[in-house]
Amino acid sequence: MMARPCCVVVVLLLLAEVSSLGEGVPNPGFVARITRKGLEYARQYGMATLKKELSNVNLPDLSGSFKAGWMGSVRYECRSLRIRSFQLRNSDLHLRPSQGVTASLSNNYMSVSGNWKVEKGFITLEGTFVLSVDGISISISLTLGKDQSGRPTASVAHCSNAIGHVSIDISGQLSWLLNLFRATIESKLKNILTQKICEMVRSSTTSHLEPYLRTLPVTLAIDQIAGIDYSLVGAPRVTSRALDTPFKGKFFGLRQRFRVPFRSPSVKLPWEHDRMAYIAVSQYVFNTASQVYRQAGLMNFTIRNEHLARLYPNMEVGLELSPESAPFLTFTPGNVTLMPVMNIEAFALLPNASDRSPLFQLRARTNISATISVSSGKIFGSLSPGSKLELELKHSHIGFFNVGLMESIFNYYAPYVVYPSINAKLKEGFPLPLPRDTYLNSLQLQILQNFVLIKADID
Ligand SMILES: *[C@@H]1O[C@H](CO)[C@@H](O)[C@H](O)[C@H]1NC(C)=O
Ligand SMILES: *[C@@H]1O[C@H](CO)[C@@H](O)[C@H](O)[C@H]1NC(C)=O
Ligand SMILES: *[C@@H]1O[C@H](CO)[C@@H](O)[C@H](O)[C@H]1NC(C)=O
Ligand SMILES: *[C@@H]1O[C@H](CO)[C@@H](O)[C@H](O)[C@H]1NC(C)=O
Repeated sequence: MMARPCCVVVVLLLLAEVSSLGEGVPNPGFVARITRKGLEYARQYGMATLKKELSNVNLPDLSGSFKAGWMGSVRYECRSLRIRSFQLRNSDLHLRPSQGVTASLSNNYMSVSGNWKVEKGFITLEGTFVLSVDGISISISLTLGKDQSGRPTASVAHCSNAIGHVSIDISGQLSWLLNLFRATIESKLKNILTQKICEMVRSSTTSHLEPYLRTLPVTLAIDQIAGIDYSLVGAPRVTSRALDTPFKGKFFGLRQRFRVPFRSPSVKLPWEHDRMAYIAVSQYVFNTASQVYRQAGLMNFTIRNEHLARLYPNMEVGLELSPESAPFLTFTPGNVTLMPVMNIEAFALLPNASDRSPLFQLRARTNISATISVSSGKIFGSLSPGSKLELELKHSHIGFFNVGLMESIFNYYAPYVVYPSINAKLKEGFPLPLPRDTYLNSLQLQILQNFVLIKADID
């Protein structure tokens, strides 16, 4: 089965679950919404897949006998049965809020070819036939849930099908005999096909869709330090207009896990529907990342003499910067800001090198503005100064201290030391939870209250 149509069938299946986020379930860090437009695209690929699968159904050889008047019982055989074409004419997808999804296919047509043989005593007739099957209708109801590990699961809750009219085209001598044969074989094949269609739908779900769903990542390693947890916090939710899938979206340390001291805020997606997919990434995702990377020391900086020579020309001086707490990103419409508070400790390196003597301690505050961007399935960030740095003296071991001079030096150097280092990290980005071979295109991005909204079409 081709990967892309398959992935879209998954989207169909994602529709199915009967649920909403219950009480006590944390807000998702990440919500993927597929709109009706996205589902329409999914339906087209889903139907192409189904058609392909149905065309590959193996039909068994048939043999048996039928009664032919004075001739008595006549043996027949049908071999090399093959589905030559399958036309899916009308298909429709019903979103049934809080219930699931039903795919209905009606007025479909199929043709089957094969070889036939009829034997009675010394009489043997044989040839080929083409069976036309009209008015095939199929109804498939799907359910999707989540398992213990937070992976989505899919199953066919119900499948039924009916076949309208069957007619077989055979010709030859002894037409009265062939007419009796025709009636027998038409009803046999009708029964076989009725049974095979739903069997195929179910086995295709088991052998293609379930493994495909398992390609949705549950956790992803980002680098040596962090991973992201993309398990589902609830089953996908069906409304009359869309399907929302809630993911946890939480960064964790690969070496140590720790409690996150804040909760994920609620995320309200606007009711837009002109794009196929809307993805909300909560500020929670970014703030759990901030926690993990601070913990790992990525926000600790040491600044050495080359930048401080102006201030202390005759002394080896170093500065250590570390955030007082993990910088918290706040998303408001149009803006992402953070107001980190950094502790700065200055020390002099003594000639016997292994020793250092403290000079002073400062607290620095600044406002930073963040830019979020998205491309090829990844989210990136970059920081730029939003205000000047304000310094406050906490403690000095060296008596008089010119805070103003220090401020201007910091404001001058911060863009050369701190920002490039953090931005290099943010430039690596982190991946969105997409199943295999799913691509987003024509991406747009909007900062809203508590989250960034990514608008995309699916490819
Ligand atoms: C970062 O610096 C602070 C203050 O000096 C220190 O307490 C903390 O252990 C450092 N973190 C790492 C991971 O080095
Ligand atoms: C974004 O932040 C800037 C600077 O704080 C402010 O001037 C601007 O009004 C904000 N924009 C919105 C849409 O709130
Ligand atoms: C290092 O040098 C300083 C000043 O010269 C001195 O006070 C201190 O005792 C020395 N430390 C060691 C470990 O030798
Ligand atoms: C940061 O922004 C807040 C709110 O806009 C303001 O009150 C504060 O003074 C700013 N801090 C600095 C260091 O500019």
